[in-house]
Amino acid sequence: MEFYHEPVMLDEVITGLNLKKTSIVVDCTLGGGGHSSEIIKKIPQGLLIGIDKDLEAINYSKNRLKNFDNIIYVKDDFKNFDDILNSQKIKKVDAVLIDLGISSHQINEAERGFSFLHDGPLDMRMNQEQKFSAYDIVNFYDRKELIKILTTFGEEKFAPLIVSNILKHRAVKEIKTTKQLNQIIEEILPKKIVYKRGGAAKKTFQALRIAVNGELANLDKSLEQIIQRLNSNGRLVVISFHSLEDRIVKTVFKKSAARCICPPTAPICVCNHKPEIKLITKKPLIPSTEEISKNPRSSSAKLRIIEKLFSPYS
Ligand SMILES: C[S@@+](CC[C@H](N)C(=O)[O-])C[C@H]1O[C@@H](n2cnc3c(N)ncnc32)[C@H](O)[C@@H]1O
Repeated sequence: MEFYHEPVMLDEVITGLNLKKTSIVVDCTLGGGGHSSEIIKKIPQGLLIGIDKDLEAINYSKNRLKNFDNIIYVKDDFKNFDDILNSQKIKKVDAVLIDLGISSHQINEAERGFSFLHDGPLDMRMNQEQKFSAYDIVNFYDRKELIKILTTFGEEKFAPLIVSNILKHRAVKEIKTTKQLNQIIEEILPKKIVYKRGGAAKKTFQALRIAVNGELANLDKSLEQIIQRLNSNGRLVVISFHSLEDRIVKTVFKKSAARCICPPTAPICVCNHKPEIKLITKKPLIPSTEEISKNPRSSSAKLRIIEKLFSPYS
């Protein structure tokens, strides 16, 4: 079987999910089934629901996990978590994994257009049925919108400079490929920055990818939905790969674990708020140096775990 993706922090994920033989588990980001292939061994009388919005991931995992019959595959966005469970007539689940971002397969396949290192169409869609791609953003968004995307999702301090060059080039000719865009960015950035970053276009490509796939848009709402659908003592494990994602995860977890949500100026607590979860990891876990040396793509991973405290309907 061709290499698809190396699962990140596998032992930490399996321990964090606290699986029982009969657990009902949702892997929200199935990818190449790296985590799921271990999860499924731990739940012989349970059920695994594997979600991915990329059909290639679903098909690859179906083949990889073909010896297991207690898996349901769903090609969808995990932002539709409630609908996905409802359509399977499942009320509550015992464990959920979210391993954010893209797979090595997606980044390595030139024609998916995710990487500035490979020449391919300016695409970056995880869901290939989606109409809107990176091509549309780069060629049709106005200056203000482009700067906002690069600044917000890429934390790119050279956004105005890069966007000016994009506008200059696209006025002459459509920007259709990753190579064209990479060159446009490389030619405008100071040489020492290009060298220091290990790729001039890194931040721009990250920003475009997040915008194309709406990666941050619904993350907080998705996490809230998932917490509602966890059984008592159910676990949620989230792996994020950049500070923007981790900030959202941390904020939702902190709020759901809070004993009081009164404004800090309130003299006494009047909110009567009950924490829904407890934080299993106060600080995020990070990969070992050994894992990073074997799999450098794991280096920015942060793993957070929560446990559901009380669920009135479970
Ligand atoms: C980092 S990979 C997961 C790798 C997987 N854990 C493994 O070990 O093989 C992330 C996967 O999640 C999918 N994905 C990202 N955001 C998604 C979303 N909102 N809904 C569904 N799938 C998503 C991507 O298409 C990709 O296949």
